[in-house]
Amino acid sequence: MAKMEVKTSLLDNMIGVGDMVLLEPLNEETVINNLKKRFDHNEIYTYIGSVVISVNPYRSLPIYSPEKVEDYRNRNFYELSPHIFALSDEAYRSLRDQDKDQCILITGESGAGKTEASKLVMSYVAAVCGKGAEVNQVKEQLLQSNPVLEAFGNAKTVRNDNSSRFGKYMDIEFDFKGDPLGGVISNYLLEKSRVVKQPRGERNFHVFYQLLSGASEELLNKLKLERDFSRYNYLSLDSAKVNGVDDAANFRTVRNAMQIVGFMDHEVESVLEVVAAVLKLGNIEFKPESRVNGLDESKIKDKNELKEICELTGIDQSVLERAFSFRTVEAKQEKVSTTLNVAQAYYARDALAKNLYSRLFSWLVNRINESIKAQTKVRKKVMGVLDIYGFEIFEDNSFEQFIINYCNEKLQQIFIELTLKEEQEEYIREDIEWTHIEYFNNAIICDLIENNTNGILAMLDEECLRPGTVTDETFLEKLNQVCATHQHFESRMSKCSRFLNDTSLPHSCFRIQHYAGKVLYQVEGFVDKNNDLLYRDLSQAMWKAGHALIKSLFPEGNPAKINLKRPPTAGSQFKASVATLMKNLQTKNPNYIRCIKPNDKKAAHIFNEGLVCHQVRYLGLLENVRVRRAGYAFRQAYEPCLERYKMLCKQTWPHWKGPARAGVEVLFNELEIPVEEYSFGRSKIFIRNPRTLFKLEDLRKQRLEDLATLIQKIYRGWKCRTHFLLMRKSQIVIAAWYRRYAQQKRYQQIKSSTLVIQSYIRGWKARKILRELKHQKRCEEAATTIAAYWHGTQARRELKRLKEEARRKHAVAVIWAYWLGLKVRREYRKFFRANAGKKIYEFTLQRIVQKYFLEMKNKVPSLSPIDKNWPSRPYLFLDSTHKELKRIFHLWRCKKYRDQFTDQQKLIYEEKLEASELFKDKKALYPSSVGQPFQGPYLEINKNPKYKKLKDAIEEKIIIAEVVNKINRANGKSTSRIFLLTNNNLLLADQKSGQIKSEVPLVDVTKVSMSSQNDGFFAVHLKEGSEAASKGDFLFSSDHLIEMATKLYRTTLSQTRQKLNIEISDEFLVQFRQDKVCVKFIQGNQKNGSVPTCKRKNNRLLEVAVP
Ligand SMILES: Nc1ncnc2c1ncn2[C@@H]1O[C@H](COP(=O)(O)OP(=O)(O)OP(=O)(O)O)[C@@H](O)[C@H]1O
Ligand SMILES: [Mg+2]
Repeated sequence: MAKMEVKTSLLDNMIGVGDMVLLEPLNEETVINNLKKRFDHNEIYTYIGSVVISVNPYRSLPIYSPEKVEDYRNRNFYELSPHIFALSDEAYRSLRDQDKDQCILITGESGAGKTEASKLVMSYVAAVCGKGAEVNQVKEQLLQSNPVLEAFGNAKTVRNDNSSRFGKYMDIEFDFKGDPLGGVISNYLLEKSRVVKQPRGERNFHVFYQLLSGASEELLNKLKLERDFSRYNYLSLDSAKVNGVDDAANFRTVRNAMQIVGFMDHEVESVLEVVAAVLKLGNIEFKPESRVNGLDESKIKDKNELKEICELTGIDQSVLERAFSFRTVEAKQEKVSTTLNVAQAYYARDALAKNLYSRLFSWLVNRINESIKAQTKVRKKVMGVLDIYGFEIFEDNSFEQFIINYCNEKLQQIFIELTLKEEQEEYIREDIEWTHIEYFNNAIICDLIENNTNGILAMLDEECLRPGTVTDETFLEKLNQVCATHQHFESRMSKCSRFLNDTSLPHSCFRIQHYAGKVLYQVEGFVDKNNDLLYRDLSQAMWKAGHALIKSLFPEGNPAKINLKRPPTAGSQFKASVATLMKNLQTKNPNYIRCIKPNDKKAAHIFNEGLVCHQVRYLGLLENVRVRRAGYAFRQAYEPCLERYKMLCKQTWPHWKGPARAGVEVLFNELEIPVEEYSFGRSKIFIRNPRTLFKLEDLRKQRLEDLATLIQKIYRGWKCRTHFLLMRKSQIVIAAWYRRYAQQKRYQQIKSSTLVIQSYIRGWKARKILRELKHQKRCEEAATTIAAYWHGTQARRELKRLKEEARRKHAVAVIWAYWLGLKVRREYRKFFRANAGKKIYEFTLQRIVQKYFLEMKNKVPSLSPIDKNWPSRPYLFLDSTHKELKRIFHLWRCKKYRDQFTDQQKLIYEEKLEASELFKDKKALYPSSVGQPFQGPYLEINKNPKYKKLKDAIEEKIIIAEVVNKINRANGKSTSRIFLLTNNNLLLADQKSGQIKSEVPLVDVTKVSMSSQNDGFFAVHLKEGSEAASKGDFLFSSDHLIEMATKLYRTTLSQTRQKLNIEISDEFLVQFRQDKVCVKFIQGNQKNGSVPTCKRKNNRLLEVAVP
């Protein structure tokens, strides 16, 4: 659920108060408690207005993920809970959108998290600014400059394992779109004393340990180094290893970073050689050697190390050796050379090491700048990030701490100035009355240090430049004189009696009451460090080095450019650079991150209230809050204010149409907030007391809950309603469907019932109509019948009448005729003889017969015997004559027809006639034979040479020669045989060979049997006991059965004078050798084909199927 929350203000779900201006009551305790409460809840960031307070968590928190970056991107500063990203976003957006150069000032004491904060700011800006290959490279180079500088400029101190020992100000440059173009880094005073000596529990700069741990053997050999830390005097041993730090891995990271930033391989190599040379310098030791003048002169103990250094750096060994033993002072063109004692030699050695290292560091910064500088000359917008060493108090505080703390003092001042200024400006801008606020202004401390006439730095410079013996003590004396009365300066030796008995103040020390606390400075080393002297012999020796980098680091060693002027002191240099920095910062829009260290143990979860209280005090957080509140604790632009609280008033909820300011006025009036509690600015509402704001917040919370309930209610209502509507809709649909179904069913029922009723009614109606029609028809028919009868009767009556009339008329006529005849006859009787009537009758008859014959002459039909036509008879009395005439005519024309025949034809017709007599209407095969001429010898045996032998064997005339099928008695199958009939014999011969198989005299043939059907089977029965009969009767089939049987009959008749018995029956017996077999003709079925088939059924039955 927490993830889904949409935050709209830092006031939402606030732990303690996110912005300390809302603290009530406001005092040191509440401030610390608020920080503690938030720290305990992992809320390490808290605002004071636009200032971010960051408490170092000393552990990694999951609040810097890319998702967080996205959360804070383009959101208003107070929209989400306090975060360093909110400040970074605000700064970046005002830079990009409002064209205001920005600076981010990160302050806090050592270990409070400044460097981490600066990296977070940079990484946030890198994440949200433009993308693209080129831009990414710039970003990468800017980010990667950090590990390089940290390796060379950071070290483990008792306060911080990664303490920055230099000040860093980085300008990141952007183009008009907000894409990074490049950057410029400025460095401030590296704590170089650390190179030669580190306080107990601290380390030298990281790079030394990284090099020895991480370099390969090969590289170490090349650099003439050994991995063992204890071999090097400059490396403290007691804390060479830092918990949780992997120097070897860091070395790789640094080399990689150098590569990304753009260091060439040879440059990296040179840098490492210088680092190695510095390390090795520490191992050069000196011993005293007495000289003739009684003074001690230092000599190098073991020259091996020196030799290696010279090899590494390309310096002439003798030159360097001399530089460690002598010091040349040039004054007014005079060179005076003095020997160095052992102490001076050690001083010279350390000075060389420190200088070499610090110059190398400056060179690195320049080199990085060269890489990251913007490539274009277009106008740039700048975001400066200042990460300077934090305010620090050690057991022994020296010149470096003095300088560092001075710098922090200046930063505090600029903070106060700018915050106040901005606050004042806002009040003026918003037209709100400005009330003066009391706060501690540390300008007085800055003045103590930097005042040009009597400031501590000026005094130090004066001492350094003064002729005569100058020591740290003389410097302290001077201070005691000049600053004795200053409120913030304390010294036992000062004339101020206040401190005479203060035992916490040693004699060789002075104490300054910094804004962040009192710091006791050991005066020892101040003069030296301020002078920062390097003997000229050494710088000249370095300039002579064959090592290009080293040579370039010591330009003053060039004899051609000897400058007798003293170089500016370290203090004045630093003062100048701080002044430049301050000026620079004042031109930019400041953003503050104030880092607080929760404990001294570098441990997570521990919140040391005393320690924090101290920081809160010196950081002036309380004053900061007061200044910020300056009468009004909280301010907010009208739009967001109205947006946040509009639900508290009916007029403004849910929308306010007018200007936001008027809306806020209405809102505040409605809520009855006392008028003294707020004030209307031009663009913002100013709320005097946090309690008013909290009251608003409470009301809002309450109202939001109510609104949530309302929304919930409406939502539930809506949900239920939609559910209900859906159900109702579904119910309607279901009901509709059901009704439809029911109605459909009912309709079907009604329809079918209707149909039934309808059909009954229609039937009934139809029947009724039918009945009526029938009745009508009957009526009509009756009428017709009656009419017909009536008409018939009428007609008959009429007919009768007519007939009667006709009869009467006829009778009258007959009577009249008779009467006339009678009259005529009576009259004419006397004229005719008595038989005249008979004569007339005969004459008439004669005439009629004559006329008949004459007409018949013309009417006779054709001469064809088959023409059946005959004219009709004219008179009944000629009937018999007419028939007789017809018969005679037919006979006559038949005779005429026959007379045309030749003998041959006569024979043929005789035969045909014979056949007709034998078979007509007896055998079904007969009609088909009528049209076939009987040819007899079908096989032309005489002509065919194949049958020559057969012909020769037969002397008689051949009547029939034809192939027949002889039925095999055994199985009913047939074999072809030549059937020959002569005048006396019947012969069977083989069809192929023509050889005679059987010869039967016709006298032995008794009978021929055949069926009545349309088949060609016939049996030839032989006389029992005859020779031929020994083989049994023959059963043949032939297409010319009728002809054969006829010819056989005729021949037998003519030869034997006996009529051959022809039996026509569908079942007859045939004597096969001993057996009598019955041949039975049945009506076969058509599928066996149109040919009759013969099958032997059993021993006694041969079945012929006739189709
Ligand atoms: N935001 C943070 N989240 C987690 N750890 C942090 C954070 N800030 C600081 N630290 C831890 O605190 C240590 C000290 O922080 P940092 O080096 O930034 O301090 P500093 O203020 O720069 O100190 P110095 O003045 O000595 O340089 C870091 O090494 C880191 O371990
Ligand atoms: Mg730091």
